[in-house]
Amino acid sequence: MSRVVVVTGAGGVGKTTLAAATAVRAARQGSSALVLTVDPARRLADALGLDELGNDPEPVPNEPGLSAAMLDVTASWEAMVNQHAEPDVADRLLANPYFRAIADRFPAAQSYAAGEEMSRYIESGRWEVIVVDTPPSAGGIDFFEAPANMRNLIGGRLLRWITGARLPGRKALYRIAARPALRLADSVLGGPLLEEIADFFVDLRTLHDGISARARHVERHLAEATTVVVTTSDPTPLREAHRFFGSIEKPELVVFNRALPAEWADAGPSGVEGKIGVIADKAIERWGTEAHKGARVQAEFSERYGVDVVAVPWLATPPTDADALDTLADGLPTTP
Ligand SMILES: Nc1ncnc2c1ncn2[C@@H]1O[C@H](COP(=O)(O)OP(=O)(O)OP(=O)(O)O)[C@@H](O)[C@H]1O
Ligand SMILES: [Mg+2]
Repeated sequence: MSRVVVVTGAGGVGKTTLAAATAVRAARQGSSALVLTVDPARRLADALGLDELGNDPEPVPNEPGLSAAMLDVTASWEAMVNQHAEPDVADRLLANPYFRAIADRFPAAQSYAAGEEMSRYIESGRWEVIVVDTPPSAGGIDFFEAPANMRNLIGGRLLRWITGARLPGRKALYRIAARPALRLADSVLGGPLLEEIADFFVDLRTLHDGISARARHVERHLAEATTVVVTTSDPTPLREAHRFFGSIEKPELVVFNRALPAEWADAGPSGVEGKIGVIADKAIERWGTEAHKGARVQAEFSERYGVDVVAVPWLATPPTDADALDTLADGLPTTP
């Protein structure tokens, strides 16, 4: 079974970068490793110095043992629907604009698709280490809650209430849709709106058994994964990092990214005369205060939750190749 590391945290803290760094390090230490990103931006490709990154895992050139993939949410949902629904239902769902809107745009659908893909790769047994970079839009925690949310959505009370206790409820829905007032709505809004909605709800119900069973697998894989929360010492990502404790299984590690060197906290005056010296001393004082604050929040975090905390230094130039990522991984513990 693969060792799985899920890298999560607030937006922009360095999740994609550190997920890539973890995978590069694992591959360079001899494990076959996959890094899976959900970030639609090209960040993973940029960090690894690649031109392209597709939905299917591809070997990273010149990095033996390392593969990378960027989740295509639409393609993943298509595969799920084809797997869990009869062919005619699958065709109808995939052509339905409501289904498309949910699959393409809802963060929860994106998170769920990522969990499904992760599970598929874990179960393939192809990689010893799988590093998952969680979706930025989901604010981290949603990723862990997505399987249960998806089960509730598709099998939930609201949908049962709309579609009726037993399938098929399609006829009943069409009868409602045929009411003159609602027909008028169709002509005003332009298109067979209500028919499409009725189709959507009924077809969605038929996915329930398949998705529900898969969602439990995804949950189990997530519970077994090592969770790494990335943050910086800034208030907003810190608040987000605190939310993980108590919301999900306790994360194993908190990484303070873009940390200032500890020795900056006690750096003395520059000793340089004149205007330059004044500027340098102000900068030393300013960054010293920041470094102090960083060290303090890290200590508080580790004390409060009894969790391992590490600091990854703020590089002068953002990493854009595997060597730079590997250097960044010096600050991280070896993949368990
Ligand atoms: N330790 C570091 N030193 C310098 N630059 C860094 C470091 N870590 C990350 N960066 C840079 O910070 C930017 C944001 O990093 P990254 O894209 O990994 O964040 P993210 O958490 O994945 O963002 P999003 O939530 O938008 O997906 C990138 O330009 C990256 O190169
Ligand atoms: Mg990212």
